[in-house]
Amino acid sequence: MVGIMTPKGLLSLLLAAPASAEILFATSYNDHALYTLSLNASSLAVVAKSYDCGSEPTWLTLDYAKSVLYCLNEGWGGAASITSYKTTGGALSKLDVLPVLKSPVASTLFGPNKTGLAVAYYDTSSFITFSVADPSKLALQQQETYKLASPGPVPDRQDVPHIHDAILDPTGKYLVATDLGADLLRIYKISNCAKNVTELTPVKAVPGSGPRHGAFATAGKSTYFYNVNELSNTITGYSVSYDNKSGPAFTRLFDFSTHGPGGTVPAGTKAAELVVSPDQKFVILSSRGESSLTIPNFDAGNSTALPSDPLVSFAIDGATGALKLAQVAPAGGVNPRGFSLNKAGTLVASALQDDNRVVVIARDPATGLLGNIVAHAVVGVGAGNGPNYALFNE
Ligand SMILES: *[C@@H]1O[C@H](CO)[C@@H](O)[C@H](O)[C@H]1NC(C)=O
Ligand SMILES: *[C@@H]1O[C@H](CO)[C@@H](O)[C@H](O)[C@H]1NC(C)=O
Ligand SMILES: *[C@@H]1O[C@H](CO)[C@@H](O)[C@H](O)[C@H]1NC(C)=O
Ligand SMILES: *[C@@H]1O[C@H](CO)[C@@H](O)[C@H](O)[C@H]1NC(C)=O
Ligand SMILES: *[C@@H]1O[C@H](CO)[C@@H](O)[C@H](O)[C@H]1NC(C)=O
Repeated sequence: MVGIMTPKGLLSLLLAAPASAEILFATSYNDHALYTLSLNASSLAVVAKSYDCGSEPTWLTLDYAKSVLYCLNEGWGGAASITSYKTTGGALSKLDVLPVLKSPVASTLFGPNKTGLAVAYYDTSSFITFSVADPSKLALQQQETYKLASPGPVPDRQDVPHIHDAILDPTGKYLVATDLGADLLRIYKISNCAKNVTELTPVKAVPGSGPRHGAFATAGKSTYFYNVNELSNTITGYSVSYDNKSGPAFTRLFDFSTHGPGGTVPAGTKAAELVVSPDQKFVILSSRGESSLTIPNFDAGNSTALPSDPLVSFAIDGATGALKLAQVAPAGGVNPRGFSLNKAGTLVASALQDDNRVVVIARDPATGLLGNIVAHAVVGVGAGNGPNYALFNE
């Protein structure tokens, strides 16, 4: 059991630590904290908690080269904000806190030298860019707020536009924002100076699908885009062409169950995260509300298995963009809202919102198959709405 340390104490520990220890960051709603965790073989230990990210810390964007971390606070129980941190060797020190519109849920860096931060806003139907040229002086740049003429096919979730993700394309020239409420992929062209973005014609998603999170994959000269749909529990694949100088063209290739063609999910399932592996060969998504799998109890003396939702892996056919189901594996518990891979693709960090648990799962980058849970930690305090995102400091 490692106590909570001051940033200074943590820094000396991190500098003294052997190279085998790896730092992860995780956000948790119920105790309003941004955690720093240390992974050492099978041990995942909480080494620090920061409360500078406000009432509901959620998405994290890391600029590893500059040692700067951006933490979004949705602000349900307080004022929403973006906090920037210096991450010297994993120890966090606050640089700035910028009050923002309610409900930021995901972000990405963009522009020359990553001087812009594009942020998706769920409840407030907005896509907003910030200047992070000086991470100690975060500044609002541009705000686009959307309306719907009439509710979508799933009226209780599609009453208004709900921007859920902000994704930089592989050319670095365009941004994509998934709109769960309007069934759109909103496309933006980044100006040369990254001071503003210009919206292009949006891509129409499958009606009622609710695009939530997405990622690009490249294979040779080909580019593909995959997004997971929270309302239909499907995954949509597109091929992306840059032949037209006026912007990328998205051609839909398929839309099928998060469990592969013909797959089904229990009622109440809500697909959440989607990640493309660093080698661009696999798509992995998380699905919440299934509890269809089990994992061994973490107490070796207790034979009662624990419930788990799945992480579903697909292999990408680089020639066509088609996906082939590779594996349905346990996410490490219930309600896997956010997960991420390390750069080598050998580990998955998964945040289990209903279990106050973050796990690290082994992964074979060659086959894309997930293996055992190698480490776990208690993250979050109290019932429900615990950890929702976990990220490697790489
Ligand atoms: C990692 O674990 C090994 C073996 O238990 C130990 O010798 C080492 O000090 C640990 N390192 C850190 C940073 O905790
Ligand atoms: C990129 O940003 C870093 C940190 O702000 C700075 O040190 C570096 O000079 C910048 N590089 C360029 C090419 O502007
Ligand atoms: C966007 O920025 C460019 C410079 O990069 C400028 O020429 C253009 O006028 C700006 N457009 C808007 C709408 O602000
Ligand atoms: C290129 O894109 C523009 C704007 O979306 C469109 O009007 C035009 O028809 C496209 N041209 C081709 C050759 O697809
Ligand atoms: C064994 O684990 C289950 C599930 O977590 C728990 O409900 C039960 O209390 C545990 N039993 C003992 C003896 O600790």
